[in-house]
Amino acid sequence: MTRLTRSDLDALPAYVPGRNVADLARELGIAEAIKLASNEVPYGPLPGVVEAVTEAARSMHRYPDMGALALRDALAERLDVAADRIVTGCGSVALAEILVKATCLPGDEVIYSWRSFEAYPIIAAGAGATSVRVPNTATHEHDLTRMAASITDQTRLIFVCNPNNPTGAGIRKDALDRFLDAVPSDVLVVLDEAYRELVTDPEVPDGVQTYADRPNIVVLRTMSKAWGLAGLRMGYLVAAPEVAAAIRKVLTPFSSSTVAQAAALAALDQEDEVRRRCALVTAERERVTEALRKLSVEVPSSQANFVWLPLGDRAAAFASSCENRGVIVRAFQPDGVRVTIGTPEENDAFLAAAEAAL
Ligand SMILES: Cc1ncc(COP(=O)(O)O)c(C=O)c1O
Repeated sequence: MTRLTRSDLDALPAYVPGRNVADLARELGIAEAIKLASNEVPYGPLPGVVEAVTEAARSMHRYPDMGALALRDALAERLDVAADRIVTGCGSVALAEILVKATCLPGDEVIYSWRSFEAYPIIAAGAGATSVRVPNTATHEHDLTRMAASITDQTRLIFVCNPNNPTGAGIRKDALDRFLDAVPSDVLVVLDEAYRELVTDPEVPDGVQTYADRPNIVVLRTMSKAWGLAGLRMGYLVAAPEVAAAIRKVLTPFSSSTVAQAAALAALDQEDEVRRRCALVTAERERVTEALRKLSVEVPSSQANFVWLPLGDRAAAFASSCENRGVIVRAFQPDGVRVTIGTPEENDAFLAAAEAAL
């Protein structure tokens, strides 16, 4: 057949989403599986958000505000930065894609730690850029020294995932300062802080507060996790004004829907509730970590809403055993398994499944 698409895409791995409750119902006949595979916070939409969405849905026949101005202003106030430094998008993954599009021409290099967020290789390849993967340290952290040493004249963008998905490792300020000082000023560093609200280590810096004055740093955040909007798709970034302006030029027009903008605005009014929920999740994270360690599993300390079990090539078997007991976790063969922190009851079900699987 005549080739209609780029041949280099043949070698590109597809993004594998966490399996769904419906998948287990269909394949294993398990009606009420527990999903701990996609890092959502388990407590439902925030108060007032469903009402805001219902109201906004009445105007769905009109295009959204393309600049998401009201949301930008609300975020600017919350983050204490100028509104022209904020860009919203259809989830932070879409913004990550746009960042690569805005910085890389085919053949340019994108550096990231590996294993890290599995969209990075797909995004880099999609833009025709070359991925430079720097293996995590033996303690499942970014190897920032090697990442800095990997910068070449072709490097245009570096993803730093803090805390790292899927290992949960947080990067502390002194190490991040040293790394950022070593990066040339014409290379953009994207601090991907999808799990920022779950960070409890005071040494792990808030990228917006700490690095806002550095023009080559972009901080990427999402409303999918702590803010409960994974299904509506809303992410944002904070960048220098000229970087933000360039990004807006390549942004898909109207990619933040009216409904998602209204939901995000309503969610931002619920900061206390977000804090309360995050505290529940992080307390459970510590409980699950301790319980797993008692089962003699290595579990690195996590700063996010998931824990990492570096089970190596036993990852797929462990995940499949948990699925047979109705708990969906995420295997990254051949490295390990990532388990999202759920409600206390869900976590108990996972711990029972883990004990049986191990
Ligand atoms: C590190 C990291 N960045 C970005 C994202 C994308 O989030 P979203 O596109 O839902 O905003 C995720 C989602 O899992 C993530 O783990």
